[in-house]
Amino acid sequence: GFSWKLNDHPKLPKGKIIAVVVLDGWGEANPNQYNCIHVAETPAMDSLKKGAPEKWRLVKAHGKAVGLPTDDDMGNSEVGHNALGAGRIFAQGAKLVDLALASGKIYEGEGFKYIKESFETGTLHLIGLLSDGGVHSRLDQLQLLLKGASEHGAKRIRVHVLTDGRDVLDGTSIGFVETLENDLAKLREKGVDAQIASGGGRMQVTMDRYENDWDVVKRGWDAQVLGEAPHKFRSAVEAVKKLREAPNANDQYLPPFVIVDDNGKPVGPIVDGDAVVTFNFRADRMVMLAKALEYEDFDKFDRVRFPKIRYSGMLQYDGELKLPSHYLVSPPEIDRTSGEYLVHNGVRTFACSETVKFGHVTFFWNGNRSGYFKQEMEEYVEIPSDSGITFNVQPKMKALEIAEKARDAILSRKFDQVRVNLPNSDMVGHTGDIEATIVACKAADDAVKMILDAIDQVGGIYVVTADHGNAEDMVKRNKKGEPLLDKNGNIQILTSHTLQPVPVAIGGPGLAPGVRFRKDVPDGGLANVAATVMNLHGFEAPADYEPTLIDVVDN
Ligand code: 3PG
Ligand code: CO
Repeated sequence: GFSWKLNDHPKLPKGKIIAVVVLDGWGEANPNQYNCIHVAETPAMDSLKKGAPEKWRLVKAHGKAVGLPTDDDMGNSEVGHNALGAGRIFAQGAKLVDLALASGKIYEGEGFKYIKESFETGTLHLIGLLSDGGVHSRLDQLQLLLKGASEHGAKRIRVHVLTDGRDVLDGTSIGFVETLENDLAKLREKGVDAQIASGGGRMQVTMDRYENDWDVVKRGWDAQVLGEAPHKFRSAVEAVKKLREAPNANDQYLPPFVIVDDNGKPVGPIVDGDAVVTFNFRADRMVMLAKALEYEDFDKFDRVRFPKIRYSGMLQYDGELKLPSHYLVSPPEIDRTSGEYLVHNGVRTFACSETVKFGHVTFFWNGNRSGYFKQEMEEYVEIPSDSGITFNVQPKMKALEIAEKARDAILSRKFDQVRVNLPNSDMVGHTGDIEATIVACKAADDAVKMILDAIDQVGGIYVVTADHGNAEDMVKRNKKGEPLLDKNGNIQILTSHTLQPVPVAIGGPGLAPGVRFRKDVPDGGLANVAATVMNLHGFEAPADYEPTLIDVVDN
């Protein structure tokens, strides 16, 4: 039968304190002025790099190596932390939705059948991120779903769009809205009453995460459900064009708007008898809305009206909470993660980040599972993030506080693994503010230094890595790698993640002599890190894990 018991590693001892540090959005790229990690002063990370090739190497953090559909897909935190924690590569939401749409199975599933019951008399509402970023959602999936839903009987459809500018270039939203409008016009020609009903920028409207700021979700609720917003327009194209005329306007932060008819009435509030689909496949920024749409008891904000709807998520966003209870595509089943194995083998674990990335080192790391495996063995600490700001104004974020918590956890000797996520290079990189991102990278490096010093004091081991690239390249490039210019001759700022590999560094006084990176896993990816960490805790990884990155030479 199945057992959680891990075999002892033949050469490596148990009982070392290991710091596992994930720098969010910290990739490796050519040194140049748009590489904020290169420009920033980062002595701690620089010194780790000098350990190459035996103690420092690169691993893949994008595309198929992390379960995404193609190698043109940039990495992201969900799939990156899933791979780091689970030690295996699972086909991720993006891919599973592609398959379900291509085969048509999506229309045979429980979730679609459930919402279909409302098609005769109610409206189908689709809410989600409108871009081809492929991190939370994809426009082509929405297009297929619209077509499929209408072929399966949806007669009245309303789309509630969230503009991106974060996983794609700022300013691209108009194009995505126009594409969607074209599709909706074609549906109207076929007799389907289909329109965009509301919208707003993803960071202002709906897509908060980890309960950082419920006002964001409330603004979305007001527009989508109640049909109320400070801005009213006759069309979404007009809305986005007008709202972008404001100084410093940005797709990520567009205010909420509703589309109204000739009489000024909102065209698509959500009412009793309607069906709703949230079409993002990624969980973190949909869970809060899912709670608002699904929970009878809800006190996070005043919903004013709680319509009786049939609601399905594109995926189920939280397997523990079973939220939402209906969904179109089953999520990846990420089982037997390294975290779960390790606690069952006596490894006491501490995990910490600030709110905006807290779920990354816990929920995503643990295979999209919330809560503890064995509470008496684990402690997860969330440091409240600043809310209501864009992180370029506070680029140091809570890096120091996270490092102090990690340091204290290490020095307390109460834990065998102390795991943190340092969000700076990612969260500030997403703002596209190069100066601020440089400050952010230095802040993350300072935090690394503090954690490495603590590891030194306790004779421990460190594993320093990242989940995907971001701050190492802040400019959109052509195929030759040259920066792209916009119409006005300015460089096009890259707010998104990248396709770059990320570093893995090992070391510390507790690292047994003879431990080094193997040379025979040149294509290693993030999923290989889990077995590596298990080895350093003194265990062999389960047989079906991706191979460890290290071996031990006798000397
Ligand atoms: C976000 O949700 O902020 C971005 O779309 C992706 O960033 P993350 O994958 O680093 O969280
Ligand atoms: Co990011």
